[in-house]
Amino acid sequence: TRHIYLSRHGESVLNTVGRIGGNSDLSDRGREYSKALASYIKSQYIEKLRVWTSYYKRTIQTASLIDAPQERWKALNEVNAGECEEMTYHEIADKFPMEFAARDIEKYHYRYPSGESYEDLVARLEPVIMELERQKNVLVISHQAVLRCLLGYFCNKSTDELPYIKVPLHTIIKLTPMAKGCHVEYIPLGI
Ligand code: F6P
Repeated sequence: TRHIYLSRHGESVLNTVGRIGGNSDLSDRGREYSKALASYIKSQYIEKLRVWTSYYKRTIQTASLIDAPQERWKALNEVNAGECEEMTYHEIADKFPMEFAARDIEKYHYRYPSGESYEDLVARLEPVIMELERQKNVLVISHQAVLRCLLGYFCNKSTDELPYIKVPLHTIIKLTPMAKGCHVEYIPLGI
């Protein structure tokens, strides 16, 4: 049996101040996670593991200590929040109150001004999903919204549920695809 391992990047500097998007480095805690992740992966002796990251520094830094071939995918970059990039949710509610309310009502279809929606993400992830279907063991290090879309696909979630799937930081999500649906295991690394 093969597994797909999913992980968000370790905590980033912008995560620590509650700002979305951007391209910041890992925080000290985030770097701790990159070490813990590398030693967990090593301890599992996963056959022919490949590691895929986005183009953002925080996913590349998270993968940096893992001893396995790596590939970058632009399609794995986090949802582009357009004019709201690097803002806090509080600032967004303040500056774009109508927008913020609209997102709450229809989160899957809501598109940020000059940015993307979850629906857009699902479309851009199609080649990633096709390749994941053909591969053996892969560890995908990406971002909250992107990983919700991958989980939504493999676990057959509805578009209502998808944008709210829990994807905590510093936790590996181990997927075992089956004939019908998927087995999901959450492995928190305690960072
Ligand atoms: O806060 C981290 C983050 O990855 C942001 O970059 C992104 O905009 C957000 O999570 C996605 O989550 P939600 O769709 O719940 O705002």
